[in-house]
Amino acid sequence: MDIFQAIPEFRDQLARWRLNKETIAFVPTMGNLHAGHLSLVEKARTVADHAVVSIFVNPLQFGEGEDYAVYPRTLETDCKKLTQVQTDVIFTPTVTDIYPEGMQANTRVEVPRLSHLLCGAYRPGHFIGVATVVNKLFNIVQPNIALFGEKDYQQLLVIKKMVADLSMPIEIIGVPTVREVDGLAMSSRNGYLTTEQRALAPRLFQVLDQVRCQIEAGEQDVIALESQACTELKNDGFVLDYVVVRNGQTLVFPTAKDKTLVILAAAYLGKTRLIDNVLCVVR
Ligand code: PAJ
Repeated sequence: MDIFQAIPEFRDQLARWRLNKETIAFVPTMGNLHAGHLSLVEKARTVADHAVVSIFVNPLQFGEGEDYAVYPRTLETDCKKLTQVQTDVIFTPTVTDIYPEGMQANTRVEVPRLSHLLCGAYRPGHFIGVATVVNKLFNIVQPNIALFGEKDYQQLLVIKKMVADLSMPIEIIGVPTVREVDGLAMSSRNGYLTTEQRALAPRLFQVLDQVRCQIEAGEQDVIALESQACTELKNDGFVLDYVVVRNGQTLVFPTAKDKTLVILAAAYLGKTRLIDNVLCVVR
């Protein structure tokens, strides 16, 4: 497994594969890898000749007062884990490699509509930061396929729309959320939780899944479902950004005709912001 920090050498390696008509599946990450990330790499291995992973904590997608400075950087263990799942190449650029003139001077990519809802409303500029860095990484790697987790459902939709809108010849594959045995979605941020908060955290998934069951049983009063979920989570000690039921493609408020819904939440336990979602197919 090769590790590249510099863009030119990394590009040379990928160009050799492309010349041989070998396909590339790409998994962008911010590192501190867990089984969720590794499931993307394992899937990548099955859909292309080569699996390429990037590890880059992207300052452009963090807001002021967010956790950029303390975000866990665990390159050595990450590389060991990636070797175990047979990654071909890891790309670990520095901030200067990605933003040579500084991130404020960099061209930005904005995906309208989707970027300003939900997490985009609570984290202004976040999805501009995500779309910009992913666009840049796509241009460096030029993959045939790129894989993203359903865990970050809004991010997955933003990337799919960016690729479609900008006619990028890349297939985007969404991979189901990997969970701890108690249901908590795996996340690099779970490590911030205290023992008490960690014990409470699975309630987020439980409450979302309860909403799914009610919708699948025929309940149509979305507002009532949202407010019930909200009350339960608040009573458990979560401080909520949102708990909503939305159309699974557009993230707008659902109509009675919608077949795929998604129940999404963002909530704090102490200073830690957790997000999760559950997909729901309506009969
Ligand atoms: P990061 O949070 O490191 O996640 C990298 C990828 O792993 C994303 O596609 C995310 O959805 C996926 N992932 C995280 N937890 C998961 C889980 N429990 N199950 C399945 N997949 C999971 O998302 C980012 O980094 C960044 O925004 C990035 C796309 C790299 C751009 O900087």
